[in-house]
Amino acid sequence: MNADSRTTLLAAPLQGFTDAAWRNAHAAVFGGVEAYLAPFMRVEHGTVRRRDVADVTRTPGMAPTMPQILASPPAEAVLMATTLRAMGHTLVDINLGCPHPPVARKGRGSGMLAHPERLGEMCRALAEVDGVTYTVKMRLGFDSPTQWRQALPLLECLHPRHITVHPRTASQLYRGELLIDEFEALLAATAVPIVFNGELRTAGQVAALLDRYPRLTGVMVGRGLVAHPAMLTPEKCDSAHFAQFHKALLEGESKRLTGGEHQLLQHMQALWAMMLPDADKRLRRQVAKARCMAQYQAAVGELIARITLP
Ligand SMILES: Cc1cc2nc3c(=O)[nH]c(=O)nc-3n(C[C@H](O)[C@H](O)[C@H](O)COP(=O)(O)O)c2cc1C
Repeated sequence: MNADSRTTLLAAPLQGFTDAAWRNAHAAVFGGVEAYLAPFMRVEHGTVRRRDVADVTRTPGMAPTMPQILASPPAEAVLMATTLRAMGHTLVDINLGCPHPPVARKGRGSGMLAHPERLGEMCRALAEVDGVTYTVKMRLGFDSPTQWRQALPLLECLHPRHITVHPRTASQLYRGELLIDEFEALLAATAVPIVFNGELRTAGQVAALLDRYPRLTGVMVGRGLVAHPAMLTPEKCDSAHFAQFHKALLEGESKRLTGGEHQLLQHMQALWAMMLPDADKRLRRQVAKARCMAQYQAAVGELIARITLP
């Protein structure tokens, strides 16, 4: 898709789906986005999780990747930012959107939007980390769609390169109406570049949104791109590209998931539960029910062979 050159197209992070194997395979075969956000990194028992570090370790040929840290108490946030800086990352996204109750109830992720004093402390601590520029990914609020009003001035002090807004509260999780009036109020209230995220499923919807809000810096697409990997590059929506993508993805995931065939199969089946929802129902069922990789490969092969341009 030809977005205006002023606008940025970004791939959203989906924990459990858009890991490095997915991002690298997508960038190599479909592309169409400027960068991929990695799912959020977190601190457990005082250290950064090893698999989160592995996921954003720079490798030759890696997709353009922006690591993300979960909004957390200052010491944890700084530990993640300095770890990433030491790995060579100079742009780090801060997750103020995760609505998952065990995370948010502890004031992390979207939960921090309900505690401006904690958000201020984290921002002040992160500003002290040398050599890192930030972006932010946030909801409008935790339990009220106006909580962004307290958060915005605190975030502005970090001079973020942009703020991505998913116009929902955490209480809405990933469903329900987008709160467009509040989003528009936010857009009018700041000079920080704003990226829109939420419910974009086609290249046409992306173009229409960018037309509607010339003030936007870009858009970020999540579930739409996982469901339709060729969403932003419709000219590549054919069997050959999907076969190449699937092969690269399977290779990448089999290196990461070392727990054997069953683990790999389960991961791929979870992905297919989201991917190509309009493909042949019988073949989708066969993929979902495959008991071994041979059955899986046969069903996927047939499904991919039937892909036609939309
Ligand atoms: C399964 C799942 C995992 C997600 N993981 C993350 C994450 O790690 N970091 C983040 O900022 N957002 C995460 N999100 C939110 C998405 O990045 C995105 O904001 C949301 O899905 C709305 O955009 P969409 O309608 O384009 O999917 C996740 C969403 C889902 C459904």
